[in-house]
Amino acid sequence: MDKRPPIYVVKNKRKNSESSRIPTYLSEKETRFAKAFHQSLANYEPTPLVTLPALARELGVEQVLVKDESKRFGLNAFKVLGASYAMARFLCEKLGKSTEEMTFEALCSPEMREQIGEVTFVTATDGNHGRAVAWAAKALGQHAVVYLPKGSAQQRVDAIREAGAEVHVINGNYDEAVCLSEQMAKERGWQVIQDTAWEGYTTIPMWIMQGYTTMVTEAMEQLSALTDTKQPTHLILQAGVGSMAAAVLGHFVAAQANKDLITVIVEPHSANCMVLSAEKNDGQPHAATGELGTIMAGLACGEPNPMAWEILQEHADFFVSCADYVAANGMRILAAPTGGDPSIVSGESGAVGVGLLAALMSKPMYHQQREQLGLNKNSVVLCFSTEGDTDQDIYRRIIWEGACREEEDMTK
Ligand SMILES: Cc1ncc(COP(=O)(O)O)c(C=O)c1O
Repeated sequence: MDKRPPIYVVKNKRKNSESSRIPTYLSEKETRFAKAFHQSLANYEPTPLVTLPALARELGVEQVLVKDESKRFGLNAFKVLGASYAMARFLCEKLGKSTEEMTFEALCSPEMREQIGEVTFVTATDGNHGRAVAWAAKALGQHAVVYLPKGSAQQRVDAIREAGAEVHVINGNYDEAVCLSEQMAKERGWQVIQDTAWEGYTTIPMWIMQGYTTMVTEAMEQLSALTDTKQPTHLILQAGVGSMAAAVLGHFVAAQANKDLITVIVEPHSANCMVLSAEKNDGQPHAATGELGTIMAGLACGEPNPMAWEILQEHADFFVSCADYVAANGMRILAAPTGGDPSIVSGESGAVGVGLLAALMSKPMYHQQREQLGLNKNSVVLCFSTEGDTDQDIYRRIIWEGACREEEDMTK
């Protein structure tokens, strides 16, 4: 069994504090397009940015802020921001039009559908991205085929099927599902919509990352409207392949929000590809292998997105891996707050940032890590709860029955 401590911190030696360099695809101009596009979706609304002052007091920091993505388009996760934008851009290119000339609604019209013809989008997913692709394909009048890794929760499978996609659960892990979707696309002329990049496949993942930035644009507007809250000093971002974390961090760098912002990238012990890459410290992304078993299904990815790694290795301060119970505790803290804070329904991959913060601030054994990360009474910590109860069985077991406590967690 893994001998790691429950929370394992690696300082990023490649961080370049002087650099404000980010790829042009995450420039403010590009991210403005993404936001304008999302605003053109019929039921668009910014998700709430929730302040948790009682939790902040309890943990001994100045403020805790959580962007609640369970409220995103009724889909219970942030993922649709990426898939909808990438699929729309793909169809616009097919039509020879720019996204500025085209709203999502216009693309969904029967006339456009006629011009575009039939497209089958294919993807591999832990659940959330697949549901997003299925949802967007249906809205666009197109088809979706979705591959899920072995052991995927039935509720996630059903949600994707209900959103209109053809769904297959394969006898392999997430990375094998990605390979299969690529192979099927080649054989059948389908279009891959994957939230990670590889050699020769970068445009769609780039559009997906641009799509994710809408939640940062919203958060920045919401932050500036909070007159009694300082700007964040810390950003805790969870990573699977790293696209979400890189898009969010890249956008913060592009906006030059706070030059001293400390960014912590967190992932499960069993799928710790960012930690491994930071430890190797050769500038290259490195894969985590094996079953990748964790309750944090959205973060169970072995291969980092190389485009995301480029950004994270230059701008992130720390890479952290943790045991599953850290995320489970985060879910419980957000579900049942004390002191009048509002409750947030946050799933396993959504709650790990708050779980990490709570463990670091409340357990004497982490005083060194706390100091290393510069967490103290002046810290304003921003986390993204990237999903709600996307697997209700697990959610109930953790919240109602108290499953995955420190004493019983085998991943620690
Ligand atoms: C809920 C949730 N949070 C975070 C992530 C991580 O995103 P990325 O794979 O881009 O690192 C995912 C990925 O599927 C997810 O579903």
